[in-house]
Amino acid sequence: MPKIEVTSSNLEEIKDQCLVIAFFEDNLKPNKEISDFDRLISNVINNSIKNRDFKAEKDESKLFYINNKNLKCLALLGLGKENDFSLSKLMDAIGKLSKKLRTSGIKSFALYLDSFRNKNYEQNAYLEKITQAIALSLYQFTKFKTKDLDKLKSIDKVAIIAANNDISKLKKIVNEALILSDAVNKTRDLVNTPPNIATPEYIANHAADLAKKNRLKCTIFDEKQIEKFGMGCFMAVAKGSANKPRIAVLEYNGNGKEKPIVLVGKGVTFDTGGYNLKPSAYLTAMKDDKAGACGVINILEACAKLNLNVNVVGIAALAENMISDKSYRPDDVLKSYSGITVEITNTDAEGRLVLADALSYSLEYKPKAVIDIATLTGASIIALGYFASPVLGNNQELLEKIKAASEKSLEKIWQFPLWEEYEELIKSDIADIKHVHDGIDAGVIVGAIFLKHFVKDTPWAHLDIGATVWAKQEKGHIVKGATGFGVLLLLNLLRYWE
Ligand code: BES
Ligand code: ZN
Ligand code: ZN
Repeated sequence: MPKIEVTSSNLEEIKDQCLVIAFFEDNLKPNKEISDFDRLISNVINNSIKNRDFKAEKDESKLFYINNKNLKCLALLGLGKENDFSLSKLMDAIGKLSKKLRTSGIKSFALYLDSFRNKNYEQNAYLEKITQAIALSLYQFTKFKTKDLDKLKSIDKVAIIAANNDISKLKKIVNEALILSDAVNKTRDLVNTPPNIATPEYIANHAADLAKKNRLKCTIFDEKQIEKFGMGCFMAVAKGSANKPRIAVLEYNGNGKEKPIVLVGKGVTFDTGGYNLKPSAYLTAMKDDKAGACGVINILEACAKLNLNVNVVGIAALAENMISDKSYRPDDVLKSYSGITVEITNTDAEGRLVLADALSYSLEYKPKAVIDIATLTGASIIALGYFASPVLGNNQELLEKIKAASEKSLEKIWQFPLWEEYEELIKSDIADIKHVHDGIDAGVIVGAIFLKHFVKDTPWAHLDIGATVWAKQEKGHIVKGATGFGVLLLLNLLRYWE
């Protein structure tokens, strides 16, 4: 991640290689500071606006190579029409430009966004989003590359030029935005790590490392303890793999004796589907099935770094869904930690089994709310496409809080119902409930209606990130591979919890 700082330097004093100036399409008039500076660089800005070389349309950016002291390059960035503008579009534009500058070999740039200074935009919000767009868009996963490392390009430093004299306040916003972005990038790192390395044990050790470095308590349960707890659903999924399961619990205390908010993350380090084996095309990328747990671990670290005023417990439920003579099968009946018996109908619906026991266990903390985050269903892709996640729960007040957090984090979610009628679908002839119905109807809801049985009356919400966990294509600040979806959302929920 580049070093990102706020400065109030004059344009003439910029020491970075590239200066970026952004304009709205319908306000192309440079202010005095820009005009004065433009004269020093042979009126590049004025000329390109006058000649219509640069129109400031959305997605437009023009690079000019100049020679002015340290400055090698000037970039004009178009933000489109001011009325159509939003923070999402800002992130998109800054993300795209940051990647373009990196490809051009630029090592450092300074960003001047005059258009915002005298307008109604909330300075804090835009500064936070600019910082996140830069930090997230420049993410690269290079851990396993051994060749041509010298050809890898990176941007080391970015300066955001602010008009406000209250630089210390703005620095605080940037620093917090960096802690949030770091949590996302570390989640991306862990999710991108291949399944032969990122085993349940590896991820649990990683959680323990984070706890040591921060003000966090860490408890790790191994397979013997999980078995002893009577977590029959969790163990059934885990048993088929030589990579033994773990439950990692991280605790952050930021508010004395207050009841905690518990986050539970699905951490299936690889999901083959088990005996209901996935077709080969669906097996690749199933390392992303641990994203919920990876997010939870990094969220807990960020809570400590941000010094939040809440108590948070993070439970990472880590297991691998494999095939062997120890594996569970369709037709098995399992006894969960809660005592509820579950008839297995499809071993590929392993996530809800792992979560069932982890959710019941979370009640031991007498939480004021439990939120689980899980790559639970492919049905979420069918329902909402790749850019939004379903959210469901048993408490509307909690769901509204989560929606407000999603407005802040700019990660799209959509509430699905948990009507009683769906209970019919998971009735079992031989056990208390079954975990999957026959058919492909209401897949997202059936997953959640099953989980609901394991949280009793505790306010609970379930975020299904099956669709949003992985990006097949670059887009704005989103980088191909693991996205870290939900991390910013949950951190915003905890930051502004009331
Ligand atoms: N991990 C998958 C869900 C998933 C699929 C996440 C694709 C991301 C991309 C989950 O364990 C699963 O296999 N779910 C099944 C449930 C079905 C058997 C009821 C699914 O969605 O097909
Ligand atoms: Zn599965
Ligand atoms: Zn899965």
